[in-house]
Amino acid sequence: MANVIVIGAQWGDEGKGKITDLLSRSADVVVRYQGGVNAGHTVVVKDQTFKLHLIPSGILYPNTKCIIGSGTVIDPKVLIGEIDQLAELGVSTEQLYISQTAHVTMPYHRLIDQASEEQRGEHKIGTTKRGIGPTYADKSERIGIRMVDLIDPDGLRSQVTWAVKHKNAVLEKLYNRPPLDPAAVVEEYLAYADRLRPHVIDSSLEIDKAVRDRANILFEGAQGTLLDLDHGTYPYVTSSNPISGGACVGAGVGPTIIDRVIGVAKAYTTRVGEGPFPTELEDEIGTILGDVGAEFGTTTGRPRRCGWFDAVIGRYAVRINGLDCLAITKLDVLDSLPEIKVCVAYDIDGEVCNHLPSNARQFAKCKPIYKTLPGWQQSTADCRSLADLPPTALSYLKFLAELMEVPIAIVSLGPSRDQTIIVEDPIHGPKRALLDAPQISP
Ligand code: IMP
Repeated sequence: MANVIVIGAQWGDEGKGKITDLLSRSADVVVRYQGGVNAGHTVVVKDQTFKLHLIPSGILYPNTKCIIGSGTVIDPKVLIGEIDQLAELGVSTEQLYISQTAHVTMPYHRLIDQASEEQRGEHKIGTTKRGIGPTYADKSERIGIRMVDLIDPDGLRSQVTWAVKHKNAVLEKLYNRPPLDPAAVVEEYLAYADRLRPHVIDSSLEIDKAVRDRANILFEGAQGTLLDLDHGTYPYVTSSNPISGGACVGAGVGPTIIDRVIGVAKAYTTRVGEGPFPTELEDEIGTILGDVGAEFGTTTGRPRRCGWFDAVIGRYAVRINGLDCLAITKLDVLDSLPEIKVCVAYDIDGEVCNHLPSNARQFAKCKPIYKTLPGWQQSTADCRSLADLPPTALSYLKFLAELMEVPIAIVSLGPSRDQTIIVEDPIHGPKRALLDAPQISP
């Protein structure tokens, strides 16, 4: 048996949906451990495209249990929409479970997120405006509403009535917005509760049972390492912990049950929202990456900022997450380029820096130091093994593995399940013996 955490190694949108979908094949249970409807992943199976925000893509396998864990925040309206969308496409959600201790995103959270972003002006974060930050803030402030409260009608009535009155003061006085009608919010959420009640469970018990049964459990992170509240590029981060450490907190398991940690990184870098991005390309190549890679947010539709692969960030992600191996996605997006650059270090005011600075103003000063590699200028979309890859594409992958000192287990060359090279089974294969990753000095 193996219990595996899959995390994003960059700023989110690394293609985790496809990788977790692939790995879910071997998983008995998939647990999403943080984030909310700010995330979005697209999974393409045969001719059907599934766009999911909260439900793990493991739902597409009929025998896989999918648990939305305690560390997530649930927007019930969006979740019910996803359940209905899956039903229309003939996918059962009978195996979908929601932690009773996950917090609920309320209408005032969304309104406050939107109003706060507007008020911040040039200091805005560029959030998804889905109420994620305010939901987590209420959790910390201990005035949040949890799934266990949502499904208790009497408790919900009194809690929501009080919370709406409290938040109306914020909406009216701080943001000059119209107040919400507490009774209408109560009625709306009582109806959501009726739909979601059958899915709500004590997820910690369920996961513990899976551990005791020696099931394969996949812990699925949303967003990415650099959006982590504690270890990301603060303040331009989300309000939860997408890193591997977040899996134990968000799922309610001890670290001793984790066998492996897999990082997903694109063959280049993207970022949505505000904040420094040293390898960003605001030129023709950036446009090519955006167009060929269809770099638009699944949740907001915003164009993603695009740039070269940044190995400083990559090494940081390896360290912070304790990565065992990497899945490199979207290699095919680089197919047409005559040369490809990789950022190997930063220049800060003339000094070489090999590490990610914690100070946001220092990070904003980082100029990438590039190593330029030849491109391959031919399609890789139909390659199904490393031997099929053009030699320069293979050299590119080896260079990334060397720089980050971790092996590459999976290479993705397009959105479909079959456009994938499994170098070695990242769950059952030998640890750290997948693709050559000679040790280099940090
Ligand atoms: P929030 O999570 O909506 O509060 O947004 C905070 C920051 O995280 C913003 O820069 C968002 O663009 C970014 N963000 C949140 N979720 C995702 C995601 O799934 N992919 C990429 N960026 C995200």
